[in-house]
Amino acid sequence: MGKEPVRVLVTGAAGQIGYALVPMIARGVMLGPDQPVILHMLDIPPAAEALNGVKMELVDAAFPLLKGVVATTDVVEGCTGVNIAIMVGGFPRKEGMERKDVMSKNVSIYKSQASALEKHAAANCKVLVVANPANTNALILKEFAPSIPEKNITCLTRLDHNRALGQISERLNVQVSDVKNAIIWGNHSSTQYPDVNHATVKTPSGEKPVRELVADDAWYENGLLLISIILFGLSTLKCSHKLHGEFIATVQQRGAAIIKARKLSSALSAASSACDHIRDWVLGTPEGTWVSMGVYSDGSYNVPAGLIYSFPVTCRNGEWTIVQGLSIDELSRKKLDLTAEELTEEKALAYSCLS
Ligand code: NAD
Ligand code: LMR
Repeated sequence: MGKEPVRVLVTGAAGQIGYALVPMIARGVMLGPDQPVILHMLDIPPAAEALNGVKMELVDAAFPLLKGVVATTDVVEGCTGVNIAIMVGGFPRKEGMERKDVMSKNVSIYKSQASALEKHAAANCKVLVVANPANTNALILKEFAPSIPEKNITCLTRLDHNRALGQISERLNVQVSDVKNAIIWGNHSSTQYPDVNHATVKTPSGEKPVRELVADDAWYENGLLLISIILFGLSTLKCSHKLHGEFIATVQQRGAAIIKARKLSSALSAASSACDHIRDWVLGTPEGTWVSMGVYSDGSYNVPAGLIYSFPVTCRNGEWTIVQGLSIDELSRKKLDLTAEELTEEKALAYSCLS
């Protein structure tokens, strides 16, 4: 007998990530080629017609694994019985808006959707928050859905992780599938720390550390570059990038670079990375490989407990575990702390918006 369908909620499904993501889920990219799915697509009333158009296209595509579609603007209907919730819906920052304005709108969305998920989702529902500020939205969702286990609430930093693998592959001219164990620490923002210190590449003579294969320290980070960015601003960054192509800055600024090029934020890579995140969480990470996920900090690596912070994790039997015991050098320590400080500030800002 075939498997029971899994109900997958995508909020913001009429938006651009939603449009890239729902066909991937319906094709089995997220949960495997033998796992039927029922898609729940939630958006807000102004997007109802577009949402219905996406539903029509899903029907037209005749996906064999797709056993049903719920397209709704009713949060209770959207959340009822879902096993996996991918939270993409949110309010984008518009011209003239301050960070606090957008934070205020999004944290109140995540507060109310937390309650709907808590009351109506299936027991043990796994949640992935994609909408920005992703870590802090996930934290608010966790705090206002106290009966959902904290291990079930995560945010997307897999896109940054995949960007790091992509940059290493380009630099070394190797297949991206031969690169593994990069790490994204911290916030899905420009303070994130993309760390190659433990990353390796499969070569004909065995696995080699990336650090051994790229001897040029300036590729990872250029201290002078950072100082000049602080002193002279972003134009220095653009200009120096042409000269060096520093790894850390490139990964940290990749979202902004995509927006500049597309006039829209990343969508296909975000959707694909969301599928990677859920697939590895549910089906497990390959032996000897870790991935980056934004998860509730338990104080590992002296990251303050109580933040949603991106760590290296392995997954087995539907549970993630933070990889322990990795060496952290002095430079890395500073970067881990810097991004934690930003998350602590975001948390305070989010709470001030809710009070
Ligand atoms: P978009 O504006 O195209 O789509 C957002 C959708 O959310 C819209 O259809 C909107 O109507 C809907 N929405 C707004 N409020 C809602 C609510 N209360 N309930 C349900 N739906 C609601 O944006 P997008 O390009 O799809 O990006 C979505 C979010 O993902 C943004 O916040 C973006 O910054 C973020 N993002 C995160 C990552 C990551 O790696 N974490 C990467 C790319 C984009
Ligand atoms: C990304 O990393 O591509 C996005 O989070 C960028 C953004 O600001 O939406």
